[in-house]
Amino acid sequence: MTEQKDSIFQLSGKDFLTIAELSADELHLLLKQAYDMKQLTKKHIPHPYLKGKTLAMIFEKSSTRTRVSFEVGMYQLGGSALFLSSRDIQIGRGETIPDTARVLSRFVDGILIRTFDHDQVVELAKYADVPVINGLTDTHHPTQVLADLLTIYEHKGRLKGLKACFIGDGYNNMAHSLVEGAAAVGMDMTVASPEGYEPDPAIFDAAVKRGAENGSRIALTHSPQEAAEGCDIIITDTWLSMGDEDEKEKRLHDFQGYQVNDTLEALAEPDYIFMHCLPAHRGEEVTPEIIDGPHSVVFDEAENRLHAHKAILKCLMENK
Ligand code: CP
Ligand code: NVA
Repeated sequence: MTEQKDSIFQLSGKDFLTIAELSADELHLLLKQAYDMKQLTKKHIPHPYLKGKTLAMIFEKSSTRTRVSFEVGMYQLGGSALFLSSRDIQIGRGETIPDTARVLSRFVDGILIRTFDHDQVVELAKYADVPVINGLTDTHHPTQVLADLLTIYEHKGRLKGLKACFIGDGYNNMAHSLVEGAAAVGMDMTVASPEGYEPDPAIFDAAVKRGAENGSRIALTHSPQEAAEGCDIIITDTWLSMGDEDEKEKRLHDFQGYQVNDTLEALAEPDYIFMHCLPAHRGEEVTPEIIDGPHSVVFDEAENRLHAHKAILKCLMENK
């Protein structure tokens, strides 16, 4: 990765809420740090940048990867993490977000939150005196996309100029953060979703505009075939995100024809990579042959959550 001129202090004390809020320099700095973290980890070189610091992790939705990687990441950085299920803390009984933010800020050095409404994260960040990290909302999943960009860089050797597609639910956290990420790094990204499942227009239009400034084309279609044509990267996600459970039958019907399978992969570049943030539903959004096949990088992608998250934690919390 190219060394950035910018100081590692530039993200110090800031929040990490969406990819769109990061400047190109900040995003590249985080990617460089993530790459470095991975080398340190692989070589078993101690890196206690956050010795004595604590991260509070509020989870209002389930998690395997995000929870474990942030907790292990804090441990590897010399600090500690507190897992706070909303079932157990007073937020679940109606204590306000501002009060929770102000109280936690007296105890810890950073707060991670996974919740439903993105406005909750924005409100938490407004009232907290410590950095707040968005560990997924209904509309954004920025920590995942940082790990995805690292994974793409490792497999393709670059980001700018690549052609990616996202097949599936355009109005979900992954689609939104991916178009924001692609636009920021100059990668083409076409979203193919059924009618009624298009991305949020405000998020999408902002990505189109930023993409145009960076030489990348962010586009929308209802045709998975059109989106996959000539792609270097095919990405999908569940058709049924957390919170969508009541719509299961309707969604399984509406997403027919949007599966990533061998017919669709035939349209991509011969050396394309397949990505999925996981958890996956084999036989729904992707066939076992694709996700468990030679083009799939989903477990590298999952591993890179750890390295990307350590970069976020270091950049936000080390010098605060
Ligand atoms: N990809 C992802 O965020 O996984 P978890 O829901 O397991 O954290
Ligand atoms: N879109 C999925 C991502 C899970 C990591 C969801 O929100 O459930």
